[in-house]
Amino acid sequence: MGQTVKVRSPINIALIKYWGKADEKNVLPTTTSLSLTLSDLWTETTISPNERTIFTLNNQPMNADEIQRLNPVLSHFSNTPFSIQTFNNFPTAAGLASSASGVAALTVALDRFFKTGFSFDQLVDITRVGSGSAVRSLVDGFALWHQEGHVSSLPNPFPDWRMLIVVVSKEKKAISSRDAMKITQKTAPSYPSWIQQSDVDLKEMLRAIQEKDPHAVGQIMERNSEALHAVMKDSQPSIIYQQATSLAILAFVKSLRKTIPFLYTTMDAGPNVKILVQAQDVEHVQRLLEQTFSCTVMVSRIGGKADEI
Ligand code: DP6
Repeated sequence: MGQTVKVRSPINIALIKYWGKADEKNVLPTTTSLSLTLSDLWTETTISPNERTIFTLNNQPMNADEIQRLNPVLSHFSNTPFSIQTFNNFPTAAGLASSASGVAALTVALDRFFKTGFSFDQLVDITRVGSGSAVRSLVDGFALWHQEGHVSSLPNPFPDWRMLIVVVSKEKKAISSRDAMKITQKTAPSYPSWIQQSDVDLKEMLRAIQEKDPHAVGQIMERNSEALHAVMKDSQPSIIYQQATSLAILAFVKSLRKTIPFLYTTMDAGPNVKILVQAQDVEHVQRLLEQTFSCTVMVSRIGGKADEI
C-alpha cells in the first residue's frame, strides 16, 4: 500500500447472456456467458491513502447500501483506511452494466494499491462475488466466463466493429439484475429450456467466431438476447425491461437491415438497445436513430480491459 493508483475498466456487453446462479454464495453461473468490452464507456477508480475510508461515486458520497454491496470484495483486502473515488462516463444503473465495470475497476485498483500479488484466477474469484458479469471486464477480446467460475478469452477477429447504445431511459432500473434473475430462476417454467438453448447458442457462437463469420455472430447474439427477454417475461411476476420505444427501435433496426445488412441488436436488464455495427455505417445509423427516436446514441469502439492508467 502507499501510492495513489488509478484504474480504468470498460463496461462489457454480453453476446451470450448470464442470467442465474448455480451457487449464490460463490457466484457460479448456471451457464457460460460471452461478451465484448466497450473501450469508450468506462469506470475510473482512484484509490489514495487517507485518514479515514471514504467512497464517492461521480463526486457524491456513496450511500450505505452501495458500500455494503462492495463488502464481499473489500473483505479480501487490508482495512487500512483509504479514499476511493469512482467516476462513470455513462449513466449509472441504466442497464449499462455499471456494476460490472465498477467492480472490475475496484478489484484491480485494490489489488494494485495494496500490492497483494493475487493471481489472475484469485482476482476473478474476488471480482465475481462483487458482481458476476464484472469478471468479463478483466480480459480483452471475446471474454468467456465459464460455468465453473473461471475466465478465458479469444482474440476478436472483427476490428471494424463498433457498438451503438441507444439510451431509451437514464432512470435507475426498477429491479436489479441480481434480484430479477433469482425470480426467473425460481419461477419461470421455461428456465430449464433457456439453459439448454444457451448451451447451443454458445457452441454455435464459438464456431462463428472461429470461422470469422460476422453475420452468424450477430444472428446468434440477437436470438440469445430475445430468449433472455422471453424467459424474463415468463417469470412470475413477469419481468419486463423492454419499453415501447425499445421494441420500436428493434423493429426499426430490422427494417434498416435491407440497406445496411450488418446491424444486430442485444438488450440487457434495462430498456436501452445495443447495436453492433460496422465503423463505416456508424454516423449514418446514429443520425437515423437520433432523428427517429429523439434519443441519445452513444458510440463505442470495442476492446480493452480493466487496467492501471
Ligand atoms: C443482463 O452481473 O449484474 O447484464 O452477478 O448478481 O451482480 P450479479 O448480476 P450482474 O448480471 C448481469 C446480467 C445481464 C447479462 C450479462 O451481462 O450477461
